[in-house]
Amino acid sequence: MATRATLPPGGSTIDVTTLADPDAGWVNRRVYVERDIYELELERVFARGWLYLCHVSQLGEPGDYVTTFMGEDPVIVVRGADGIVRAFLNACRHRGMRVCRAEEGNTSFFRCPYHAWTYSNEGELRGVPKYRLAYEGVMQREDWGLVPVAKLADYQGLVFATWDRQAPDLLDYLGDFTFYLDLGFGRDPQGVEILSGAHKWAIDANWKHPSENFACDMYHGLGAHLRPAELGLMTQFADEGYEVSAGVGYIGHEITRPVSEDGDGDETLHGYWSMPNPYTYVLKEQRKAVAAKHDEQVARLVPSGHASIFPNFSFLDLENLRLVRVQQPLGPDRVMIHQWCCVDASLDPELKQVLRRQYELAFGPTGLLEQDDGENWRECQEGMRGWIGRRLDSNMDLGRGRERPASEILGDKFPGRGGGIWSEANQRQFFRHWMAFMGSDGWDELRGRLTEVSH
Ligand code: FES
Ligand code: FE
Repeated sequence: MATRATLPPGGSTIDVTTLADPDAGWVNRRVYVERDIYELELERVFARGWLYLCHVSQLGEPGDYVTTFMGEDPVIVVRGADGIVRAFLNACRHRGMRVCRAEEGNTSFFRCPYHAWTYSNEGELRGVPKYRLAYEGVMQREDWGLVPVAKLADYQGLVFATWDRQAPDLLDYLGDFTFYLDLGFGRDPQGVEILSGAHKWAIDANWKHPSENFACDMYHGLGAHLRPAELGLMTQFADEGYEVSAGVGYIGHEITRPVSEDGDGDETLHGYWSMPNPYTYVLKEQRKAVAAKHDEQVARLVPSGHASIFPNFSFLDLENLRLVRVQQPLGPDRVMIHQWCCVDASLDPELKQVLRRQYELAFGPTGLLEQDDGENWRECQEGMRGWIGRRLDSNMDLGRGRERPASEILGDKFPGRGGGIWSEANQRQFFRHWMAFMGSDGWDELRGRLTEVSH
């Protein structure tokens, strides 16, 4: 009896080429609304791509676990008694009950609440009530362990997994985006650390709205976040100087970071919310270290900005706001955000708590910026869910045709291509990825398509 999930052969009647043309600057709104397109996403995007699970700092000891989702599938990520991190479908092999309903903890076993089948923290089925009396001779326990993911790996402590054994290794999937992940997560000698548990909240909007926003939509700051700016809470959007800022939009996976065209970059080390930024001193020291390793231009990308790794992992690495998050799909018109505050691991504990408070004021379910965003994504969904609305295209023309190598925008060492700060280059690239996944039956075909659209 196979214990691994096997993906079904491909085959779809949906013509993906009718749904979007990023090169021409449009995406049809059916992709945010229709159930059959969403079901194809679960199969071709979420069952095939590398998906973010958690950070290794959450799994410090044997038995430490967190629960999360891959697409709509619940998963447990656990460091086994042998010290190895594994991930399993959080579903009992007997009737499918979730064997772990806590969000995090430490355990040597997972006992199913329904009929009490019990699994070790390495996924083996160890305990079956009345086994000798009722099952012996007809069912082998070793065949009915928890279903593991096909591949699991981490980069800079970020743990990802895929259900597809044909998927390329994580490093190949990330490509030269690792350059930006090193700046974002590897500039402290101890890496980053997740502070406390996850913030979770649901929004009545398609998962792609937040994912493409973080990929990154700097343009919305002029509308969605105008009120905090007018109240003096975000000087960067109220400041005329912001208008002349350059920026990089790396397209491959995607990252955007506003940096000043002149100056040494230190002028961007203000705190969001116009708060004194107690992290500034640390950032300046980190910039010196990055400059010594690379050069001054690379150092200006500390902190590293906004980014999404296709499909649904995003992070913010700003002056005093730092988070990682996943946009978990819950249907074509609902998304659950899982978000964690993170900090450099070697910081003073008091500074970590100050940064956590500043994070909470901006993001998370009670954060002002988050509420600005979530309200807009929900209303986007409302505007496009009707019979007429879903037949229209969304305009994705901003900065189209003006993409150029990131090395021309920020410096020789930067990989990828950029669109500047007022550009939807990254959103267009997000949809090139999406079309490659949605139009491919499996990784044999998908590898070639991703190579074609990569820059
Ligand atoms: Fe888990 Fe029956 S569903 S033991
Ligand atoms: Fe926003």
